[in-house]
Amino acid sequence: MIVDRRSFFASVGVGALNLMDPEEKAEALEHYMLDQMDEEADAAKLSEQEQEAAPRGTGNLLLPRRTPLAPMPDKPTLVDFFKLRLASSNHCLQSATHALETGQPERTVMACLLHDGVQGLIKADHGWWGAQLYEPYVEERVSWGIRYHGALRFYPDSSVGYEYPDLYNRIFGEDYTPPNYIRQAYDEARNHSWYMESRLITVNDLYAFEEGVELTLDPFIDIIGRNFKSPAEGLGYDNSPSAHMWRTIANPDKPL
Ligand SMILES: [Fe+2]
Ligand SMILES: [Fe+2]
Repeated sequence: MIVDRRSFFASVGVGALNLMDPEEKAEALEHYMLDQMDEEADAAKLSEQEQEAAPRGTGNLLLPRRTPLAPMPDKPTLVDFFKLRLASSNHCLQSATHALETGQPERTVMACLLHDGVQGLIKADHGWWGAQLYEPYVEERVSWGIRYHGALRFYPDSSVGYEYPDLYNRIFGEDYTPPNYIRQAYDEARNHSWYMESRLITVNDLYAFEEGVELTLDPFIDIIGRNFKSPAEGLGYDNSPSAHMWRTIANPDKPL
Protein backbone atom coordinates (compact mmCIF):
# COMPACT_ATOMS: atom_id res chain seq x y z
CA MET A 1 0.00 0.00 0.00
CA ILE A 2 1.21 3.48 -0.82
CA VAL A 3 0.82 5.63 2.25
CA ASP A 4 0.16 9.27 1.50
CA ARG A 5 1.90 11.20 4.26
CA ARG A 6 -0.44 14.16 4.01
CA SER A 7 -3.70 12.23 4.28
CA PHE A 8 -2.23 10.10 7.07
CA PHE A 9 -1.20 13.20 9.02
CA ALA A 10 -4.62 14.77 8.32
CA SER A 11 -6.42 11.67 9.57
CA VAL A 12 -4.58 11.73 12.90
CA GLY A 13 -4.13 15.47 13.20
CA VAL A 14 -0.65 16.98 13.22
CA GLY A 15 -1.14 18.31 16.76
CA ALA A 16 -2.09 14.87 18.06
CA LEU A 17 0.80 13.30 16.16
CA ASN A 18 3.31 15.63 17.80
CA LEU A 19 2.14 14.45 21.22
CA MET A 20 2.57 10.77 20.40
CA ASP A 21 5.63 8.76 21.20
CA PRO A 22 7.09 6.85 18.24
CA GLU A 23 5.42 3.59 19.18
CA GLU A 24 2.02 5.31 19.25
CA LYS A 25 2.76 6.85 15.86
CA ALA A 26 3.56 3.42 14.47
CA GLU A 27 0.22 2.13 15.85
CA ALA A 28 -1.61 5.11 14.34
CA LEU A 29 -0.02 4.34 10.98
CA GLU A 30 -1.08 0.71 11.09
CA HIS A 31 -4.65 1.63 12.08
CA TYR A 32 -4.75 4.13 9.23
CA MET A 33 -3.60 1.47 6.75
CA LEU A 34 -6.08 -1.11 8.04
CA ASP A 35 -8.96 1.37 7.87
CA GLN A 36 -8.01 2.32 4.31
CA MET A 37 -8.46 -1.33 3.34
CA ASP A 38 -11.62 -1.89 5.31
CA GLU A 39 -14.08 0.07 3.21
CA GLU A 40 -17.19 -1.32 4.85
CA ALA A 41 -16.00 -0.47 8.34
CA ASP A 42 -15.00 2.91 7.04
CA ALA A 43 -18.39 3.70 5.54
CA ALA A 44 -20.15 2.86 8.80
CA LYS A 45 -17.80 4.93 10.89
CA LEU A 46 -18.27 8.54 11.84
CA SER A 47 -15.72 11.10 10.75
CA GLU A 48 -12.46 11.50 12.65
CA GLN A 49 -13.83 14.70 14.14
CA GLU A 50 -16.99 13.03 15.33
CA GLN A 51 -14.91 10.27 16.87
CA GLU A 52 -12.51 12.65 18.50
CA ALA A 53 -13.60 11.91 22.04
CA ALA A 54 -12.89 8.17 21.78
CA PRO A 55 -9.50 6.90 22.96
CA ARG A 56 -7.38 5.81 20.01
CA GLY A 57 -7.25 2.21 21.19
CA THR A 58 -11.03 1.79 20.92
CA GLY A 59 -12.12 -0.86 18.43
CA ASN A 60 -14.53 0.16 15.68
CA LEU A 61 -17.29 -1.98 17.19
CA LEU A 62 -17.29 0.24 20.26
CA LEU A 63 -17.46 3.51 18.32
CA PRO A 64 -20.70 5.26 17.33
CA ARG A 65 -21.92 4.04 13.94
CA ARG A 66 -24.05 5.37 11.12
CA THR A 67 -25.53 1.96 10.32
CA PRO A 68 -26.54 -0.81 12.75
CA LEU A 69 -24.44 -3.97 12.92
CA ALA A 70 -25.77 -7.00 11.04
CA PRO A 71 -27.51 -9.49 13.39
CA MET A 72 -25.53 -12.57 14.47
CA PRO A 73 -26.86 -16.15 14.28
CA ASP A 74 -27.86 -17.86 17.57
CA LYS A 75 -24.83 -20.15 17.60
CA PRO A 76 -22.19 -18.09 15.86
CA THR A 77 -19.09 -19.73 14.44
CA LEU A 78 -15.69 -18.23 13.69
CA VAL A 79 -16.78 -17.81 10.07
CA ASP A 80 -19.82 -15.78 11.21
CA PHE A 81 -17.60 -13.59 13.37
CA PHE A 82 -15.08 -13.23 10.59
CA LYS A 83 -17.74 -12.09 8.14
CA LEU A 84 -19.83 -9.95 10.49
CA ARG A 85 -17.68 -8.64 13.34
CA LEU A 86 -13.92 -9.16 13.41
CA ALA A 87 -11.75 -6.29 12.19
CA SER A 88 -9.30 -6.14 9.30
CA SER A 89 -10.80 -9.15 7.52
CA ASN A 90 -9.40 -8.11 4.14
CA HIS A 91 -5.93 -7.54 5.58
CA CYS A 92 -6.05 -10.87 7.45
CA LEU A 93 -7.19 -12.69 4.29
CA GLN A 94 -4.29 -11.20 2.34
CA SER A 95 -1.88 -12.21 5.07
CA ALA A 96 -3.23 -15.79 5.28
CA THR A 97 -3.26 -16.07 1.47
CA HIS A 98 0.39 -15.11 1.35
CA ALA A 99 1.19 -17.73 3.99
CA LEU A 100 -0.77 -20.35 2.05
CA GLU A 101 0.83 -19.52 -1.29
CA THR A 102 4.33 -19.62 0.14
CA GLY A 103 3.74 -23.07 1.59
CA GLN A 104 3.85 -22.22 5.27
CA PRO A 105 2.49 -24.59 7.92
CA GLU A 106 -1.26 -24.67 8.36
CA ARG A 107 -1.02 -23.28 11.87
CA THR A 108 0.82 -20.23 10.47
CA VAL A 109 -1.93 -19.75 7.90
CA MET A 110 -4.45 -19.96 10.74
CA ALA A 111 -2.50 -17.49 12.89
CA CYS A 112 -2.31 -15.03 9.97
CA LEU A 113 -6.04 -15.34 9.41
CA LEU A 114 -6.73 -14.45 13.03
CA HIS A 115 -3.91 -12.08 13.89
CA ASP A 116 -5.62 -8.65 13.80
CA GLY A 117 -9.30 -9.62 14.17
CA VAL A 118 -9.57 -8.51 17.79
CA GLN A 119 -8.98 -4.91 16.72
CA GLY A 120 -12.75 -4.67 16.16
CA LEU A 121 -12.99 -4.74 19.94
CA ILE A 122 -9.76 -3.08 20.96
CA LYS A 123 -6.70 -1.85 19.12
CA ALA A 124 -4.40 -1.11 22.05
CA ASP A 125 -2.03 -4.01 22.75
CA HIS A 126 -3.95 -6.09 20.23
CA GLY A 127 -1.44 -8.96 20.20
CA TRP A 128 -2.18 -9.76 23.83
CA TRP A 129 -5.95 -9.30 23.52
CA GLY A 130 -6.05 -11.41 20.37
CA ALA A 131 -4.10 -14.23 21.99
CA GLN A 132 -6.58 -14.35 24.90
CA LEU A 133 -9.59 -14.27 22.59
CA TYR A 134 -8.43 -17.27 20.57
CA GLU A 135 -6.53 -19.25 23.21
CA PRO A 136 -9.31 -21.71 24.16
CA TYR A 137 -9.87 -22.69 20.55
CA VAL A 138 -6.49 -23.05 18.86
CA GLU A 139 -3.24 -24.93 19.29
CA GLU A 140 -1.13 -23.12 21.88
CA ARG A 141 1.51 -22.21 19.33
CA VAL A 142 -1.06 -20.27 17.27
CA SER A 143 -2.18 -17.99 20.11
CA TRP A 144 1.44 -17.71 21.31
CA GLY A 145 2.42 -16.39 17.91
CA ILE A 146 -0.44 -13.91 17.86
CA ARG A 147 0.50 -12.62 21.33
CA TYR A 148 4.01 -11.65 20.30
CA HIS A 149 3.46 -10.43 16.72
CA GLY A 150 2.61 -6.93 17.96
CA ALA A 151 6.03 -6.63 19.59
CA LEU A 152 8.00 -8.35 16.83
CA ARG A 153 6.78 -5.84 14.22
CA PHE A 154 9.24 -3.35 15.64
CA TYR A 155 12.34 -5.53 15.23
CA PRO A 156 13.88 -6.63 11.94
CA ASP A 157 15.00 -10.17 11.24
CA SER A 158 17.04 -10.36 8.08
CA SER A 159 17.14 -14.18 8.24
CA VAL A 160 13.53 -14.16 6.98
CA GLY A 161 13.66 -10.83 5.15
CA TYR A 162 11.62 -8.93 7.71
CA GLU A 163 12.40 -5.22 7.71
CA TYR A 164 9.12 -3.58 8.66
CA PRO A 165 10.57 -0.89 10.92
CA ASP A 166 12.06 0.74 7.80
CA LEU A 167 8.56 1.81 6.84
CA TYR A 168 8.15 3.58 10.15
CA ASN A 169 11.48 5.27 9.64
CA ARG A 170 10.51 6.41 6.14
CA ILE A 171 7.20 7.81 7.32
CA PHE A 172 8.51 9.52 10.43
CA GLY A 173 12.08 10.09 9.42
CA GLU A 174 13.43 9.14 12.81
CA ASP A 175 14.89 6.32 14.83
CA TYR A 176 12.69 5.18 17.59
CA THR A 177 12.93 2.99 20.63
CA PRO A 178 9.87 0.98 21.57
CA PRO A 179 8.89 1.12 25.25
CA ASN A 180 10.31 -1.41 27.67
CA TYR A 181 7.35 -3.77 27.74
CA ILE A 182 7.57 -4.18 23.96
CA ARG A 183 11.33 -4.76 24.19
CA GLN A 184 10.82 -7.33 26.93
CA ALA A 185 8.16 -9.15 24.93
CA TYR A 186 10.50 -9.17 21.93
CA ASP A 187 13.37 -10.58 24.02
CA GLU A 188 11.10 -13.26 25.45
CA ALA A 189 9.89 -14.29 22.00
CA ARG A 190 13.35 -14.11 20.44
CA ASN A 191 14.72 -16.53 23.02
CA HIS A 192 11.80 -18.94 22.84
CA SER A 193 11.79 -22.11 20.75
CA TRP A 194 8.49 -21.00 19.20
CA TYR A 195 9.93 -17.68 17.98
CA MET A 196 9.15 -18.43 14.31
CA GLU A 197 5.44 -18.94 15.09
CA SER A 198 5.25 -15.23 15.77
CA ARG A 199 7.91 -14.03 13.36
CA LEU A 200 6.13 -15.63 10.40
CA ILE A 201 2.99 -13.62 11.21
CA THR A 202 4.99 -10.41 10.83
CA VAL A 203 6.58 -11.68 7.61
CA ASN A 204 3.16 -12.33 6.07
CA ASP A 205 1.87 -9.04 7.50
CA LEU A 206 4.36 -7.25 5.27
CA TYR A 207 2.59 -8.38 2.12
CA ALA A 208 -0.94 -7.83 3.35
CA PHE A 209 -1.65 -4.16 2.84
CA GLU A 210 -2.76 -4.18 -0.78
CA GLU A 211 -5.75 -1.98 -1.53
CA GLY A 212 -8.45 -3.15 -3.92
CA VAL A 213 -7.62 -6.86 -3.59
CA GLU A 214 -10.78 -8.71 -2.57
CA LEU A 215 -10.36 -12.25 -1.28
CA THR A 216 -12.84 -14.71 0.22
CA LEU A 217 -12.74 -17.15 3.10
CA ASP A 218 -13.41 -20.12 0.78
CA PRO A 219 -9.82 -21.45 0.64
CA PHE A 220 -9.67 -21.34 4.45
CA ILE A 221 -12.88 -23.11 5.47
CA ASP A 222 -11.22 -26.55 5.77
CA ILE A 223 -8.17 -25.06 7.47
CA ILE A 224 -10.45 -23.42 10.05
CA GLY A 225 -12.21 -26.79 10.49
CA ARG A 226 -8.92 -28.49 11.29
CA ASN A 227 -7.35 -25.73 13.38
CA PHE A 228 -10.15 -24.00 15.30
CA LYS A 229 -12.23 -25.92 17.86
CA SER A 230 -15.67 -24.50 17.24
CA PRO A 231 -17.92 -24.95 20.30
CA ALA A 232 -21.30 -26.59 19.61
CA GLU A 233 -23.03 -23.89 21.70
CA GLY A 234 -21.60 -21.14 19.50
CA LEU A 235 -18.75 -18.77 20.32
CA GLY A 236 -19.71 -16.76 23.37
CA TYR A 237 -21.98 -19.40 24.89
CA ASP A 238 -19.56 -22.18 25.81
CA ASN A 239 -18.30 -20.80 29.14
CA SER A 240 -14.72 -20.66 27.94
CA PRO A 241 -12.31 -18.15 29.53
CA SER A 242 -12.86 -15.81 26.57
CA ALA A 243 -16.60 -16.41 25.97
CA HIS A 244 -17.38 -12.94 27.37
CA MET A 245 -15.10 -11.36 24.78
CA TRP A 246 -16.95 -13.08 21.95
CA ARG A 247 -20.29 -11.97 23.42
CA THR A 248 -19.12 -8.36 23.60
CA ILE A 249 -17.92 -8.54 20.01
CA ALA A 250 -21.26 -10.04 18.96
CA ASN A 251 -23.24 -7.41 20.82
CA PRO A 252 -21.19 -4.34 21.73
CA ASP A 253 -24.35 -2.40 22.50
CA LYS A 254 -25.06 -4.10 25.85
CA PRO A 255 -25.23 -1.43 28.58
CA LEU A 256 -23.62 -3.65 31.23
FE1 LIG B 1 -1.22 -6.77 14.22
FE1 LIG C 1 -1.55 -7.21 10.56
